Amino acid sequence: MINIVLFGPPGSGKGTQAQHLIEKFNLKQISTGDLFRYNIKNETELGKLAKSYIDKGELVPDQVTIDMLTDELRKPSNTNGFIFDGFPRTIAQTEALEKIVRQELNSEISICLSLVVDDEILVQRLIKRGETSGRTDDSDVEIIRNRIKEYYAKTAEVAELYKKQGKYAEVIGVGNISEISEKLFAEVEKIK
Ligand code: C5P
Ligand code: MG
Repeated sequence: MINIVLFGPPGSGKGTQAQHLIEKFNLKQISTGDLFRYNIKNETELGKLAKSYIDKGELVPDQVTIDMLTDELRKPSNTNGFIFDGFPRTIAQTEALEKIVRQELNSEISICLSLVVDDEILVQRLIKRGETSGRTDDSDVEIIRNRIKEYYAKTAEVAELYKKQGKYAEVIGVGNISEISEKLFAEVEKIK
């Protein structure tokens, strides 16, 4: 199996690049942000809870997100593996993911691919995306800045765990989208 953690701050292009990676390597994307938004749209209890955090640009509590991800991972899939997009976002989520992948898939995380983008470019991209995304958390600069703040406070340190395991690669996430994809593909080829 190939199991990729697609990592990077909000607006770094994880969703876009996940689309290219799933096609290239026949993987299933699991985006915890998309799962939350699906639940919000359908007004589920989980959606209501998640919305109260997402609308402030804060992280949803670990166990809520971990349980949702576990449910998704248990659904049958005949792909070569998974791309985790927007998860893990904390050390606790990282440790949980390792366990879940071992228990549910009898496998492990192959690599953490990290998209590197300057903060000011992130803010510009998210404001722009907010013009069409309909996402409440893209529509306000203060919320956007809080999401980036949360990233540095709780998420950035996740990279260290993968670095220690020798499972970490960085790609500059600014420039031509296809060229960025090619660089990501090359990192996956190295470990195949
Ligand atoms: O990944 P994405 O940027 O789509 O996530 C949108 C929001 O969903 C985050 O800003 C956060 O509020 C919430 N989220 C979370 N924990 C995750 C993934 C997303 O709290 N692991
Ligand atoms: Mg996304």
